[in-house]
Amino acid sequence: MAEALPSTGAPVLVTGATGFLGRHLLRALLRQNRRVVAVVRDEAGLSAAFPGIEIIRSDVRDVAGYCSRLEPGMTVFHLAGTRALPGTRREEFRRVNVDATLALARAAAQAGAGRFMHISTALVYGCASGAPADETVPLRAPAFPSGYLESRLEGLRQVRNLVVQGLPVVTLCPTIVFGPDTPDHPNRLARQMRRLLRRRLDVVIGGGAQRRTVAFVDDVVRGMILAEARGAPGEEYILGGHDVSPREFNCLVPAAARATPRLRLSVPAWAVRIVARGADRCRGFERGCGYETALDMYSQEWCYRSSKAVSGIGYGVTPIGQALAETVRALAPQQAPVAESEARAG
Ligand SMILES: NC(=O)c1ccc[n+]([C@@H]2O[C@H](COP(=O)([O-])OP(=O)(O)OC[C@H]3O[C@@H](n4cnc5c(N)ncnc54)[C@H](OP(=O)(O)O)[C@@H]3O)[C@@H](O)[C@H]2O)c1
Repeated sequence: MAEALPSTGAPVLVTGATGFLGRHLLRALLRQNRRVVAVVRDEAGLSAAFPGIEIIRSDVRDVAGYCSRLEPGMTVFHLAGTRALPGTRREEFRRVNVDATLALARAAAQAGAGRFMHISTALVYGCASGAPADETVPLRAPAFPSGYLESRLEGLRQVRNLVVQGLPVVTLCPTIVFGPDTPDHPNRLARQMRRLLRRRLDVVIGGGAQRRTVAFVDDVVRGMILAEARGAPGEEYILGGHDVSPREFNCLVPAAARATPRLRLSVPAWAVRIVARGADRCRGFERGCGYETALDMYSQEWCYRSSKAVSGIGYGVTPIGQALAETVRALAPQQAPVAESEARAG
């Protein structure tokens, strides 16, 4: 049985509560009997799924509209963020991942909040060239144009300035997270797992050998709560797990489901790049905000060490086989209707 998590007992304000990570975090906070206020654009069935939480409807950018709900001693878990989806505009990344983050961190400090938990991403520490990166790596511009990464880097730089001014910010940098998701906020790796469990063919690009650190959502959520209780203000913690390539991941998933291995197809990266570029041009996507950038992300190694979180806050990593098996079990009920319709179709 998992060790009980320490609790500060402080009331909590959560942004991004409707999202993939947000829902898992709410569940963990309610298990600790914490008083939770969630700032959401759209309620999306949250009050039915999590009775007892208080819901404030607001865009996270409208900080003046909801900052009166901040209280002295409160913890803010700021998860709301604009994800790296092709077609998102640079301006949107900036307004949410930089401007709203800073405005909320300042408002939280002004209200006397005890902790501002800034959820960023391990990708800010760059691509691995040889050894896995850690929190000591100097921040550098991304190796390729990326509106998402640029906004995350700028957000972290600005948050570091607030830390210098004495604001009680702890930054958490999850790697690429997987785990059970919900249809309205699909997790990229869970979607990939569903595909792998449904089809006999798995597709990788350019051999799919580039490794990236993947983290199980339960570990990341435990890490967030441990960092709230034990993390030092001003510190940054990478929350990661295991280094696997797309090719390895695609073998581990059927193994966790005790399914037969799939047939593999590797599509040349140059061919995907031509199609991605064409699609970006047709759709008028900004450079750094389209399918070509998604391919650039896929083509790099993104490996990180979590040793600071392990020694500093007691972060733990679930064995990959166990984490995948738990995710497969949770995804199974969602798979059933798909399998039935495929069987009917012959
Ligand atoms: N999942 C990962 O692998 C991963 C890895 C590293 C870091 N992170 C970071 O962790 C955070 C949560 O990730 P996630 O996977 O849970 O993402 P997600 O499923 O896309 O959820 C994003 C959340 O942010 C909210 N949001 C976005 N823009 C908003 C706005 N303008 N006003 C109010 N709410 C807004 C969304 O609300 P709606 O429901 O209204 O859309 C949603 O609740 C993000 O900051 C992400 O960058 C995630």
